[in-house]
This record gives sequence, structure tokens and C-alpha cells, in this order.
Amino acid sequence: MAKKSKTQCIGILTAGGDCPGLNAAIRGVAKAAISEYDIKVIGILDGFRGLIENRTVMLDNRAVSGILTHGGTILGTSRDKPHKMSMGGRIMDMTSAAVENARRLGIDCLVCLGGGGTQKNALHLSTVGGMNVITLPKTIDNDVYGTEVSFGFDTAMSIATEAIDRLHTTATSHNRLIVCEVMGHRAGWLALGAGMAGGADVILIPEIPYDLTKVAEHLLERRRNGKRFSIITVSEAAHAAAEEAPPPEPDTKKRRVAKKRTGRDSAPPSPPANVDAVVETSTPSITLVQEAMASKLARQLQQLTETEARVTSLGHVQRGGVPSATDRLLCTRLGVQAVELLAEGTYNVMVAIKGGCCKAVPLAEVAGRKKTVPLDHAWIRAARSVGTCFGDD
Ligand code: F6P
Repeated sequence: MAKKSKTQCIGILTAGGDCPGLNAAIRGVAKAAISEYDIKVIGILDGFRGLIENRTVMLDNRAVSGILTHGGTILGTSRDKPHKMSMGGRIMDMTSAAVENARRLGIDCLVCLGGGGTQKNALHLSTVGGMNVITLPKTIDNDVYGTEVSFGFDTAMSIATEAIDRLHTTATSHNRLIVCEVMGHRAGWLALGAGMAGGADVILIPEIPYDLTKVAEHLLERRRNGKRFSIITVSEAAHAAAEEAPPPEPDTKKRRVAKKRTGRDSAPPSPPANVDAVVETSTPSITLVQEAMASKLARQLQQLTETEARVTSLGHVQRGGVPSATDRLLCTRLGVQAVELLAEGTYNVMVAIKGGCCKAVPLAEVAGRKKTVPLDHAWIRAARSVGTCFGDD
């Protein structure tokens, strides 16, 4: 017989960049909810956008069967925010529409699987919209605050490590420097973890701005010691001490426009009735593609060391394919714990890993904060002890 639950119906969505493990987490939540508590589970398509556009799918045991090992997300994802949603060329606050749709679907609690942005969006729906939410920490970047680890990180680190292993054999055959750029957003966890596991000679992360001449000197010293090659693992947001950190994400300069506009020839058409406000953007939100930082670094190091250099940028390969065993386990544990919490009526928390155990952390403590690599972290100390150069000494 099903156990008693304070929550009768949940919605589940995946938001932000995809990563391996999302399907394992969806399965964990849905199977535990259905089998243990007989809770109705509604899948919401393409992140918060699907909630606003009313695009959903019923999730029963059959729908989540056989997905544990699959990469990506069966629900689809997007980076849309409920309060800054692009609708017909304009940015709108659709918070009320999201809340109203969830209410009409009978959703008592929305389970959101995502990274830092998703934690903020979920908190917004709970504080502004009054919705019950629970989140799970997902990101290959491992930068979600309040948890020791996020799912997706272990798989991405393994993929990047394997790539670095493979670069070693070709680098040594050709007597080359190879710069390997990994993702990680503004945190260095992925470069640090994969760089250490792959035995990179130099690891550059955003938390430790580097001195180019010190990196070059380390590479020349390796050559003097008879090493035919060097591998430099660089995080996508790493930067030289002399350079500025990469600019912050383009943010929309908000200007609230009254819901009903009248008396202006040039005024755009009135927004739909379920829009809270139109948030106009002062600049188009297009991210410019610049010369990859890794290419610039390779060019500089080639000149300074007079050694042929090549670049490999791993990109979205790190986010694709099957989740590792560690991530599958983590996702299942987090998903099941989320259901335990919502069944007992605990809402507005993220299910975190603390001391190796699943713990509920208030969303308000997590949202808007980022977990970067502490400079005295044990991984950094260990890497320095085996002679890895971070470009700072
Ligand atoms: O947050 C995950 C991540 O893969 C980051 O490492 C990277 O900076 C970003 O997403 C890439 O985003 P997109 O898939 O939108 O290009």
C-alpha cells in the first residue's frame, strides 16, 4: 500500500544546460513518487518555458523506464527564466502565468533540476509566485553553492580526463605543447579535476589568475629536463593576472513598462493579459563569439617557448552521452530524497550532498551564490605537491 504524502501531484522540469544524469534523476523522482506514495507526476517540457506555454507530458512508470543510462533529458531543457521570458521578440515577466498554469494542472510542488540559474528561478517562483518548489543540483561545472557535488560533474570530468589521456600520446609523439580547453563556466572545478586526473603539466583556472611568463618558464624547464611535450589544461574562464576576468554575462537592463499602454503612436502592442510586465532590453542578448582563449594562449606559449603548439577545445562533448556510475547513483539518491521531503511537506529547499549524505538546504541560502575553488583546497595543494604549475609561482 502507498505511504501517506502531503503532496499529491508534482511537476518536474529540467532547466539550464543539459548534462548526463538528468534522466537518471527524473527517473529517481518519478519512480519513488509513484511507487512509494502514489503521487501524480507531470513532466514539463523545455524548462520553465514549457510551464508558461502549457506543454506537459504525463510521467508514469512506463515513461521513465529504461532511461537511467541515457544522456540528455527526455523533457528537453532551456535557459528561459519565468520572470524574463522572451516572447515574440520581447522580454516579459511571465511569473503569474507559470503559477496559474501549475495551479490549473493541480501541481502541489514543482521539482526543478538545474544549476545556479535554476536555483534562482525556483526561489523566484516560491517567493514571488507563492509556489512550493524543490530543486536538485545539476551542472558539469560543480559550482552550485551549498552542496559538495552536483550531478553531471563526475561524468564530464571523466570525459575530459580521457581526452587529456589521449592528448598525451599524440603530444609526446610530436614533441608539442597541447592546450586543452575545458568548460566550467566561471569555476575551475572541471579543469582542476580533469587536469589532475589526466596528469596535466599546467592547470589554469579562473580562481588563480596566471602569469604567462611563469607558465612559459615551467614549460621550458620541462624541456631542459628532457620532457618532449607538455599538456596545459585551461578552464574556459581562466585569465592572465594582467588581464581582466571575462566580462559578466550580458544582463538585461530592466525597464518595467505598464501593463496597459495608451496614447502613444509608437507604443508596441499591449502584452497578453497573463503578462506581469514587459521587461525591455537595452541591448540584444547575443553573446559574441571571440577568439577562443585557448587559441590565444597556445599562440603566446608557442612564441615564448619556440615549441609547436596545438589546441583542443572539448566543448559540448563534455555534456553528452551516458552518465557515469557515480552520477547515476547520485541522481537516484537525490531524486528519491526529494520525494521523501515533498511527501513530508518540506518545500523550498535544494537537496544537497553534505558529508556524503543527502540534506535539505533552504533555497534562499543557495540561490545567487556560486561555489568556486577555494585557493587552499586539498586538490590544489596535492597538485602543487606533484609539480603541477598553476601559473602563479
Ligand atoms: O553550465 C554548463 C555549461 O556547459 C558551462 O560549462 C558552459 O560555459 C555553458 O554551459 C555553455 O552553455 P551553452 O550550452 O548554452 O553553450
